[in-house]
Amino acid sequence: MWLLLLLVAPSLALHTLEPPPPAPVSRNIPQERWLTVRLNQFMAYDTKTFQMRYYYNDEFAGNNIVIFVGGEWEISPGWVRAGLGYQMAEQLGAGLFYTEHRYYGKTRPVENTEVENLKYLTIDQGLADLAQFIQYVKSDEFEGGKYKNGKVVLVGCSYAGTMATWMRLAYPHVVDAAFSDSGPLHAQEDFPEYLEMINTAIKEQGGEACLSSIEEAIKDLVALFEDPAGPAQITDLFNTCAAVQATPLDMATFFWYGITETFAYLVQYAEPGDIKEACDVLTNPALGNAVQRLANWTTDQDWNKPCIESRYTQVLADHRDTNFDSEDSVMRLWTYQTCVEFGWYQTTSGNNQPFLSAVPLEYFHQMCKDFFSPNFDEGKLRHGIRRTNLMFGALTHMPDHVISVAGGHDPWSPMGPNATHGHSQSPVIVVPEASHCQAIQAFGLTEIQELEAAKQAVLNFMHERVLGPLPPPVDGASSLGVSLMLLVAALAVLF
Ligand SMILES: *[C@@H]1O[C@H](CO)[C@@H](O)[C@H](O)[C@H]1NC(C)=O
Ligand SMILES: *[C@@H]1O[C@H](CO)[C@@H](O)[C@H](O)[C@H]1NC(C)=O
Repeated sequence: MWLLLLLVAPSLALHTLEPPPPAPVSRNIPQERWLTVRLNQFMAYDTKTFQMRYYYNDEFAGNNIVIFVGGEWEISPGWVRAGLGYQMAEQLGAGLFYTEHRYYGKTRPVENTEVENLKYLTIDQGLADLAQFIQYVKSDEFEGGKYKNGKVVLVGCSYAGTMATWMRLAYPHVVDAAFSDSGPLHAQEDFPEYLEMINTAIKEQGGEACLSSIEEAIKDLVALFEDPAGPAQITDLFNTCAAVQATPLDMATFFWYGITETFAYLVQYAEPGDIKEACDVLTNPALGNAVQRLANWTTDQDWNKPCIESRYTQVLADHRDTNFDSEDSVMRLWTYQTCVEFGWYQTTSGNNQPFLSAVPLEYFHQMCKDFFSPNFDEGKLRHGIRRTNLMFGALTHMPDHVISVAGGHDPWSPMGPNATHGHSQSPVIVVPEASHCQAIQAFGLTEIQELEAAKQAVLNFMHERVLGPLPPPVDGASSLGVSLMLLVAALAVLF
């Protein structure tokens, strides 16, 4: 799973990732299938096509449709066998589908990822693929027209949550309702709020002392880089893949891959107790000074095995590989999307974060130019971001019939909707202290009441949109449905 992480996060590291597949519960073996899809969805006379992969589980199939939307990762059968989407399919009597986003996984519209071949990698094309997919599933061609008159519900988390929301915006006539968990909706070049949210989560879950310890370590590390003997010590302590060099690009590489990304993984995917556990190491005096403690914890994380990369030239070599099967292929693809459509660079330009100015915005500008071509400069990036916010409304317009869940400690949450964006047709539920993509997990999986209430609210919302009003509460035992709906309202007001 860390590999996947990679994925998205890998994606960038930009961190949006496929959530860990839940434990399988379905007895059905999902079927892997393929649909022939237009390569260029926006040029009617262009008849070129490619094969889009999807999984299908008809265990509960009446005539409704639940689509678990794939984002910047390879799909796997886990999410058509378990998770909240699976439970939703059961509740709604729906066929359950999981679509793969073009360019990711085995859905490869082109031969390789050379820059020229990436021109069809845009969210607009990805959304239109989904529209074509829905048209197909509702046609006579698919299982004799079984789903022809059914309702369509989309479920997605992270970038796929963004897609689910924007499908209701772009193609409301083919999507009846959508659930977005942790989906960012506002494209932004510099995204300092990400590391500031990490700061908040560490302070609130790990304590002030933990934060001060990290701050002290970063200050000392920066000083070490200025000391002639420092880089050799850093190389040794942090187990870097090669001797660290005190050049701006290599220093940013060390801090980004080795330090800020490591904290990003910790906080973005934190289960209760994870941050506290990391902080126990980061503040343990028996492990030495602040830098030694940070080194102890950092080098122990899977993401940093077998070694921490600090060579910008090596990062370039890895991300310029245009083979779909290369190790950093997903990261290359997602970085491309950030360079032309989204930005979302998790820099240290915010005031409320412990990493000083270790990872500046210029570092990402450089990556866009060096991974793709000098043509991918700041002008192109800003132009693309403005376009994305124009086409999809950023946070200025929430489409109706969308229910969103945001994690109160999800570093992505500042780019997504909060209670102020919700309205009666599109509620937004904020779950305090939750991290990224936790509501997409099966109902009944955790003891965290607010999280379970959010999942129940999502199920109720879909019940109302697809099957009609929930039955009125029965005396005693179950006023669950209604009280949960009230809870949604209460949460919206509170947060
Ligand atoms: C961290 O410190 C503990 C306790 O001294 C030690 O057992 C462990 O090997 C250290 N881990 C690393 C990666 O240095
Ligand atoms: C909600 O998001 C907006 C940005 O769109 C932000 O200005 C505001 O502070 C946020 N409100 C809360 C309660 O987080």
